[in-house]
Amino acid sequence: MGDYTNMAGYYDVIMTSGYYDYEKIVDSLVAHQPQRNVLEIGCGTGLILEELAKRQPKLPITGIDLTEPMLSIAQKRLAPFPTVSLSQQNITELALDETHELAFSYGGVWYFVMDGEKEPFLVSHISDAHANELGFEHLAKHMALGSTLLLGIQGPHHDYETVISNGMTYSQKIDPTDIGFTKHYYLQDGDHTVMDQTVHYRTYTFDQAQALMGAYGFEFVAQKDANQLFLQFKKVN
Ligand SMILES: C[S@@+](CC[C@H](N)C(=O)[O-])C[C@H]1O[C@@H](n2cnc3c(N)ncnc32)[C@H](O)[C@@H]1O
Repeated sequence: MGDYTNMAGYYDVIMTSGYYDYEKIVDSLVAHQPQRNVLEIGCGTGLILEELAKRQPKLPITGIDLTEPMLSIAQKRLAPFPTVSLSQQNITELALDETHELAFSYGGVWYFVMDGEKEPFLVSHISDAHANELGFEHLAKHMALGSTLLLGIQGPHHDYETVISNGMTYSQKIDPTDIGFTKHYYLQDGDHTVMDQTVHYRTYTFDQAQALMGAYGFEFVAQKDANQLFLQFKKVN
């Protein structure tokens, strides 16, 4: 479920070639004025956490991720920031000592896709339906009443290929499935495939997502953030 081992060594060069805008993501997070321990679900190599820790040097931050090789890159990146603690965890079994007032995931375990005026839909790196329930159940136990959960918004996925900053060619291919879609990621150096990874995603309509998340106390807050980078949920019970 959502294992990024194959991509880990190339993740940063792909992402920092313009895939995500990390400064804007952190602008949205700091707009929520986090005061207590913040949690990133699926922090990967720690690119968001580094930017957040630089801007909020006193804020305690926790990052969890399933994929050890991603986290080991994050450990090195975040070593200069004593406020950040990282932990290898599957969200379906999340076990941390603290509760949080702000948790977020951007391209991590869960995100929303928005395509123009169409209703957003939820995408999960976890393909199994019950495991998604376990994920929200475990997350809910780590969130204080009244706390905020932010899930990142992405544009529609499509097949494409692009040359990245190290001269290699990144490409992705999407195949619809019964439960959502499968995404194939490739990195080519000339004729040589240096990385390929396949993730099976489960998708939920907006109604299904609200039912799934509502069962664990997460209620949709209609107002989107100014940058339109996250959908906001509040832990109401
Ligand atoms: C596209 S990366 C996003 C990383 C980071 N948020 C960023 O913006 O660069 C998705 C991450 O989610 C993690 N992930 C997927 N399924 C997970 C799960 N069940 N529990 C914890 N992490 C998971 C993967 O290991 C991967 O590092």
